[in-house]
Amino acid sequence: MIVTIDGPAGAGKSSIARELARSLGFSFLDTGAMYRAITLGAIRKQIDFSDQASLILHAQASRIRWQNDQIFLDDDDVTREIRTPVVTDSIKYVANINQIRNALSQQQREIAARQDIVTEGRDQGTEVFPDAQCKLFLTASPAERAQRRHQQLAELGRPIPLEEIRATQDRRDAEDRERPQGALRPADDAVIVNSDGLNREQVVEMMLVTVRNKLDSQAKSASNNRSNA
Ligand code: DC
Repeated sequence: MIVTIDGPAGAGKSSIARELARSLGFSFLDTGAMYRAITLGAIRKQIDFSDQASLILHAQASRIRWQNDQIFLDDDDVTREIRTPVVTDSIKYVANINQIRNALSQQQREIAARQDIVTEGRDQGTEVFPDAQCKLFLTASPAERAQRRHQQLAELGRPIPLEEIRATQDRRDAEDRERPQGALRPADDAVIVNSDGLNREQVVEMMLVTVRNKLDSQAKSASNNRSNA
């Protein structure tokens, strides 16, 4: 089964998707990490972000692979570096190029073809896996997302004013929603989960109920098909 989770930055998708996958015994795919790794590689190679042809060649030549929770770009462990602000601020130059999106979407489909998976991103339920059996859209109000990020950074010893976090978040939301291909939006058949006022365990629990219902109805229709055959 393929479970897709899309939603805006700061809604807690990664940690929730990871936990959901663990509870179900499914694999987990963080597609944002793929866009981040390609962006980091372009920065390291000093590719000019206005040079789309070179960015496409770079993306096609890059090899992304996972080992447990670590992500490798051409055999280099980039798990931490892909989360730095300089990468986050530059992702749009990579994520807005359709040829790069198509190449990464293809890799995502190949990974999902081999296993039961929870895959999270922006376009998983809409463009990459339009036929996924279970689609979730995880969101939270902009104020709550910014507040959570503010608290996380403060706990990491990096206090940043709330207004600054909110302004960056609003800009990223707009970029993600306005992308010509792969724009952030819920699929028509997605279940919307709003995590305002809920903790991670409560959100995972709600999602587990939805996924288990889908698994049950899949099992029932498979058994009906067998008895009608
Ligand atoms: O989930 P994240 O914040 O790590 O994603 C980083 C960026 O990557 C996000 O702002 C847009 C892009 N992205 C995308 O375009 N499509 C995806 N499926 C996942 C992420």
